[in-house]
Amino acid sequence: MIGIFDSGIGGVTVFREILKKLPNYSYIYYSDSKNNPYGDKTYEELIEITENIVDYLVSYGCKIIVIACNTASAICKDYLRDKFDVPIVAIEPAYKMVNDTNPQGKTLILATKGTLESEKFQELYHKYDNHNTSIYECVGLADLIEQNKTVEIDEYLKQHLTPFMGVENIVLGCTHYPLIIDKIKQVLGDVKFYDGSLGVVHQLEKVISDISLQPSEFNIKFIDSSNKSIKKERFEEILERRVN
Ligand code: DGL
Repeated sequence: MIGIFDSGIGGVTVFREILKKLPNYSYIYYSDSKNNPYGDKTYEELIEITENIVDYLVSYGCKIIVIACNTASAICKDYLRDKFDVPIVAIEPAYKMVNDTNPQGKTLILATKGTLESEKFQELYHKYDNHNTSIYECVGLADLIEQNKTVEIDEYLKQHLTPFMGVENIVLGCTHYPLIIDKIKQVLGDVKFYDGSLGVVHQLEKVISDISLQPSEFNIKFIDSSNKSIKKERFEEILERRVN
């Protein structure tokens, strides 16, 4: 079994890419909406939260953990990898992909405060800096997406993204943001989007082969920490399938 978690439904954007490539495994998705948003939490809070989740997933029988949350990955992945014996696959903002595909292009990176202030992000940014990149901390945006507040999301994007008119590349540095690609396009036009989910799929394939994890009967289990039925409905809607 493979365990995947995020601060809510954002990580489903990663999970749906995983399922396209690796359908022959059983999965458990842990949506920690009770603790959403992660983006403004302290290091200590996030360590405690994520350690409990990984502990739970491991005791549930997960042989691999996927952190489908940029904030938790940037801040907690080293700690969690030291602490647990299971392999931990962690997402990161796809800034390297910009470097690989359109390095000169005017670029905008969107992410949470936690991600942008992390050492991991700073390392990544300086490694691939194309000197034509703006970084924007989207305070509160993941929260609006989690709550599906569509009108407020439109207003937020209009107010905060209009100054970036003319960018070519947008790095979606939070797993909630791929859910609002169409809305971002309404403000910034036909931009190219980059998110870290394909990187996760590649890492996961490698780990599966490294530990020789055998395919198992396909099964998806969904858990939401706030136990709201609306979360399961959104999960199924994003994945376009029904689950346990
Ligand atoms: N989906 C998350 C991320 O990728 C977390 C957003 C939040 O909870 O603030 O950063």
